[in-house]
Amino acid sequence: MTEFRPPLIEIRDATVFRGVTKVFDHLDLVLEQGLSTAILGPNGAGKTTLLKLLTRELYPVQRDGAYVRILGQARGDVWSLRTQLGIISSDLQYEYAGRASGLEVVLSGFYASVGVWGHQEYEASQQELAQVTLHELGIEDLAGRRYETLSTGQQRRLLLGRALINQPDSLLLDEPTSGLDLAATFSYLKTLRRLMLTGRTVVLVTHHIHEIPPEIERVVLLNAGKITADGHKRSVLSSQSLSSLFGESINLIESDGWYQATPA
Ligand SMILES: Nc1ncnc2c1ncn2[C@@H]1O[C@H](COP(=O)(O)OP(=O)(O)O)[C@@H](O)[C@H]1O
Ligand SMILES: [Mg+2]
Repeated sequence: MTEFRPPLIEIRDATVFRGVTKVFDHLDLVLEQGLSTAILGPNGAGKTTLLKLLTRELYPVQRDGAYVRILGQARGDVWSLRTQLGIISSDLQYEYAGRASGLEVVLSGFYASVGVWGHQEYEASQQELAQVTLHELGIEDLAGRRYETLSTGQQRRLLLGRALINQPDSLLLDEPTSGLDLAATFSYLKTLRRLMLTGRTVVLVTHHIHEIPPEIERVVLLNAGKITADGHKRSVLSSQSLSSLFGESINLIESDGWYQATPA
C-alpha cells in the first residue's frame, strides 16, 4: 500500500490583488512533494506575491473552488506546518533583530514566525539540535557571534539553519543567493544540493538562472502573473523561452547541469 501524500502546494483558481493591482487571475499551480522545482520570472512577475499566498499573508478572492492548500490544509497557520515546510523569504534577512547571537537565530526557528522576535526558553535538547544544525551547515563558529556583525552570506546561512532546525521535508526559498558574492553563492548552492540529495524537496522562487542547481527537475515560468511554461527543466529552459520571459534577447548556456544567460 502506498502512502497518500498530499501535494506540497495546491493553488486553485486563485485571483489575488495587491491593492488595486490584480496580480493573479484564476491561477492554478500544483507542486508535488518530492519534486524540486524552480519558479522563474522577471521582476514584477508575482513571485513574492505567490510566496505571501503560501505564508498566508495574502488570500485569494473568495469563491467556490478557489483555495490555497499547503500539504492538504486549506486554512490554519503555516507555522504549525513548519516541520514539513520551511519558508525562507527574502525579507527575513532584514527583519531580524541584530543583537541576537547566531545560536539564538537558529533556535528561534522553533517558535518564531517571520519577523517576530521573542524571548523564549530553550530546552537542552533544543540547544543540542541547534548545535547539530550549525555543525551540518559548517557554521559552528557563528554560534556566539552577533547577527548584525556578520556578512550577508553568514546571515543567510544562519537563516537556513533557522528553517532547518525543525527538520522540514521541504524548503521554499526566495532568491536565496541574491546579494552574495561568488564564493558565498557557490557554498550556499552546495548546501542546497546536499539537502536535495538527502531527500529534501526544494522550491526555489527566483529570477536568477544561475542559482538553479542540477537537482531541480521541474521549472515553472511566471510572467505578469501567468504561468507561461511548466515542465521538465530541460524542455522548459531555452534561449527562446528565456528571451520571451525577460523580453530581451538571451543566449542560454548549459554546463554540467547549471545554466547561465548571456546577451544574445
Ligand atoms: N503592496 C503592493 N501594492 C500594489 N501593488 C503591488 C504591491 N506589491 C506588489 N505589487 C505589484 O504586484 C505585482 C507583482 O509583484 P511581486 O509579487 O512583488 O513580483 P516579483 O516578486 O516577481 O518581483 C507587480 O506588478 C507589483 O507592482
Ligand atoms: Mg520579489
